Amino acid sequence: MSDKVEKDEISGTDTTGHEWDGIKELDTPMPRWWLWTMYGTIIWAIGYWIVMPAWPLVSSYTAGFLGYSSRGSLETELAEATAAHADDRAALVTMDLGEVKNNAQLYQFALRGGKSAFAVNCSQCHGSGAQGAPGFPNLNDDDWLWGGSVDKIYETVKYGIRSDHGDTRIGDMPAFLTDELLTKEQINDVAEYVLSLSEERDDTAAVDQGKEVFMENCASCHGENAKGKQEFGAPNLTDAIWFYGKDKDIILRTISRGRGNVMPAWVDRLDDATIRQLALYVHSLGGGE
Ligand code: HEC
Ligand code: HEC
Repeated sequence: MSDKVEKDEISGTDTTGHEWDGIKELDTPMPRWWLWTMYGTIIWAIGYWIVMPAWPLVSSYTAGFLGYSSRGSLETELAEATAAHADDRAALVTMDLGEVKNNAQLYQFALRGGKSAFAVNCSQCHGSGAQGAPGFPNLNDDDWLWGGSVDKIYETVKYGIRSDHGDTRIGDMPAFLTDELLTKEQINDVAEYVLSLSEERDDTAAVDQGKEVFMENCASCHGENAKGKQEFGAPNLTDAIWFYGKDKDIILRTISRGRGNVMPAWVDRLDDATIRQLALYVHSLGGGE
C-alpha cells in the first residue's frame, strides 16, 4: 500500500493512494446533487426538531414550537366528526323512533352508529352477530321476551332487565322446587306438558297432569296458551325456541330453581342518541315487530 496520491490517467480522477496488487482506488467525489440532498436533510432535521415534538427527555419530550401531538389531532378529528353529526344526533333524539325509517339518510346514520355501538357494548353478551347464547337472547329472531317494537327495544336497552336501575323491567321465573311450590313429580309432569307443546311426547299421562299444574301455576305469567307474556318477560313455550336450552334437564332445572338473567341498564352509560341508534339497529336485525 502506498500513500502517494496520483491522477488516474484514463478517468483524470485522483486516486486515494490505496493500492492492492497494482489496482488503485479512485477518489471519485460525491455527486453534487447527492451532497446537497444530504445537507438538505440535515437542515430539515434541525428544523423539524425545533418545530415538532422530537427529543425524549427524562419524563417528557421536547414539544416543538408548533405544539403538535397526534393525540391532540385525533381529539380534534373526533370532535369534528361528532360536530358534523350533531344535527343528525339532535334530530334522532327529538324524533319519534318509529318515524326515523322514513328519513333514509337519518336511518342509515342510526344503523351505522348502532352497529358500532353494539360491537363495543353488547357483543360480549349477545354475540358479535347478535345471535345470542344460552341465557342471552338471540336478537335476530322474532321471538321477544320483552317486546320487539322499536319503542320496546329502546326501553329494554335504556333501563335494562332486572338491572340496578329503578325503572328496570322485572319479572322472575320462580323456583318451584327450591321454594317448595311444587313437588318433583309435579315438576316432571309440567315439564312434559311444556315439551309437548313443541314436540311429540310419549308419556301422555304426565302431559295431562302437567297441563293442570301449568294452568294453576304457570299460566298467570306464560299465558293459558303458553305463548308467553311480554309484560313479565315470560317466554313463549310453544315455539321450540329455547332461551336456556331444549333439553328436558335444562327445563327441569329452570322450573325447579328459577331463572332471572340480568341485562344492564344503559341510560347512565350511553347518551340518548346512541341508545336510540342501538334500538333502531337491533330492530333492523330481522326480527323487529
Ligand atoms: C352483561 C350481559 C349483557 C350485555 C352487555 C347486554 N345485554 Fe342485552 N340482554 C342480556 C340478557 C341476559 C338478556 C335477557 C334478559 C332476560 O332474561 O329477560 C338481555 C336482553 C336484551 C334484549 C331483550 C330481548 C328480548 O327478547 O326482549 C335486548 C333488546 C337487548 N338485550 C339488547 C342489548 C343491547 C342493545 C346491548 C348493548 C347496549 C345489550 N343488550 C347488552 C345481557 C346483556
Ligand atoms: C311470575 C311469573 C312466572 C311464572 C308463574 C312462571 N314463569 Fe316460567 N318464566 C318466567 C320468566 C320471566 C322467564 C324468563 C326468565 C329469564 O328471562 O331469565 C321464564 C322462563 C321459563 C322457561 C324457560 C324458557 C326457555 O326458553 O328457556 C320455562 C321452561 C318456564 N319458564 C316454565 C315455567 C313453568 C312450567 C311454570 C309453572 C310451573 C312457570 N314457568 C311459571 C316467568 C314465570
